[in-house]
Order: sequence, then C-alpha cells, then structure tokens
Amino acid sequence: MLHRPRRNRKSAVIRDMVQEHHITAKNLIFPLFIVDSTSQKTEVASMPGIYRYSIDNLLKEVEQCLNLGLYSFDLFPNIEDSLKDKMATVSYQKGNLYLRAINAIKSNFPEACIVTDVAMDPYSSDGHDGIVEGSKILNDETLEVLGKMALAQAEAGADIIAPSDMMDGRIGYIRELLDSNGFTEVSLMSYTAKYASAFYGPFRDALNSAPKAGDKKTYQMNPANAREALIEAQLDMEEGADFLMVKPGLPYLDIIRLLHDNFDLPIAAYNVSGEYAMLKAAIQNGWLDEERAIMETLLSFKRAGATAILTYHAKEVLEKGWLK
Ligand code: PBG
Repeated sequence: MLHRPRRNRKSAVIRDMVQEHHITAKNLIFPLFIVDSTSQKTEVASMPGIYRYSIDNLLKEVEQCLNLGLYSFDLFPNIEDSLKDKMATVSYQKGNLYLRAINAIKSNFPEACIVTDVAMDPYSSDGHDGIVEGSKILNDETLEVLGKMALAQAEAGADIIAPSDMMDGRIGYIRELLDSNGFTEVSLMSYTAKYASAFYGPFRDALNSAPKAGDKKTYQMNPANAREALIEAQLDMEEGADFLMVKPGLPYLDIIRLLHDNFDLPIAAYNVSGEYAMLKAAIQNGWLDEERAIMETLLSFKRAGATAILTYHAKEVLEKGWLK
C-alpha cells in the first residue's frame, strides 16, 4: 500500500500537527438570561447549569467569564407578564431591564463585547416576534418596533445587534436607522437562516416567551428547505449584515456549509437551547462522555464553516479546561 492514512494518526503529536480545526475562547459567544430583581440566580429547569440572573449577579457572571478569557455575551431578558403588550412597548422604554443590563456591563467592563437580541417575543403579550393581527404577523409595521428597539440598544452600548425576528427587510431597515443616528460602528449579526425549530423549547421556558397562539412558521424557515437560505443570505448581504447566522446549529450543519461556500461574510452558528438540553440529559444519565460529546459538537460548527459559535457550553468548556 502506497497510502496508509493511519500514519497521520499514529501519535498524539502527529494527530495534533495535522488537526485542521480548533476551538478557542475567542470563537465563543455566551448567551445569558436576565431577570428583573436583585440577588437572583435561578436555574432553568430544562437547561442544567444555565441560570437567569438579576443584574447584580449578571455582573459577577460576566466578570468570571472575562477572567476565563470569554469576552462575548448575547443577552436575553425574561420580562414580567404584566409589562408585556401587543406592541412590545417596553422593549424600547428608557431604563428597561435589558437596557440597564447592557449599560451595567459596558460601564463596568468596557472590554466585554455585547450582542443584543432584536425581536418582539420576550416583550409581546402574544409571544410572537412581530405584531399579531388576527392570525397574521404583520411585517412592515413590525419593522418600526424593531427599529426603536435596535436604536435603544445601540444607545445603551451594544456592540453587535442581532435581529432574530425573521421579518423581511429588517436588516436594511435597522442598518439605515442606526447609520442616520450616528451608530455606523454598531454591527449587525443577522439571524439569516433561522428555522421554525422544535429545539427552541427550553429557551422559551427560560424567558416565558412561547407564542400564545399558533406557531412561527410564517416567518421562520421550513426545516425541509436549504436553497431558501441562499435567498435570505443574499438579501442580508445586500442589506448590510456583518455576520450571517444559522440557527439551530447541529441539525443545520449543511446550511452552515452552504452559506460558508457561497458568501464571504463570517458565519455564526447558534447551538440552541434544545441542543444543550439534549446533550446534558444524556450526560446526566451517564449515556455520553461529557467532555468528548461537548467538544465534538463545538468542533462540528467550526468544521462546517462557522467562526463564531453561540453556545450555552461557552463558560463550562473554559472552566473545565477543555480548550487546549
Ligand atoms: C426569538 C428567539 C428564540 C431564540 C433566540 N431568539 C426562540 C424563538 O424563535 O422562539 C432561541 C434560542 C435558543 O433556543 O437557545 N426571537
């Protein structure tokens, strides 16, 4: 035999020498859930090891992460039902929980990179990402709310704004609004190919943000479609996105690869709540080896073509020393 591929696997030194992909702390974005109270840190039942933090504890958590070399965070608010309305008005109200959290992190830790979420669902009494009228989700009317939300987040100090709502035209709309208000340096990470997925369940538990009626299939993508992701990516490119995101991650590695091969913008993968819950459940049962299963999962996103990985595992992989 002239070719024996096993020669390149014969020792750890050689295996490391030929390793194509690595995960570093710099690739990771850590999603954090916030709740309005003090000294609170409550575990999300379906996401062992993941908590909702009041702002005081959020700052402690961020500080610990920074000390571990983890610099990027994506924030999501759990809003009291009594503050929600059809128009998600509280989402851009001065001094709301979310804006205070951004501000607190940026003023205490200017080196932290804050990704903020733009969508109506955590603030909407209907639990949808857009304005509900009868059985419809209004597109263009929703853009106005998203714009106000994005602007308020930019003013509070967001580094990267990530619209997760899947309304048509929102990247261009928000880009223009940010620019005309002097926020030309605030980046846009578009949830480009966001699928109507079963894997968001634990996240909706964490935020109490599940739709009150219907589902999200008229705005989030059909899991059976791949080529449609190219249309979304093309539009995001043209409308001024700085990153293209694919969500969920694991069941959509082919979409990460597709966008990577067809577009030159950096690709982000969102390793969502249900993927985290799935691994943790098997690990807790002793059915999977924790370190190996988690690291293999994270590597798959890099291999598929993502550079940024939003993952609930971000802190633990550093704490446990798994990034070598
Ligand atoms: C909603 C939003 C969702 C997630 C992030 N932003 C859920 C949804 O679309 O219902 C899910 C993240 C996760 O599951 O980890 N704008």
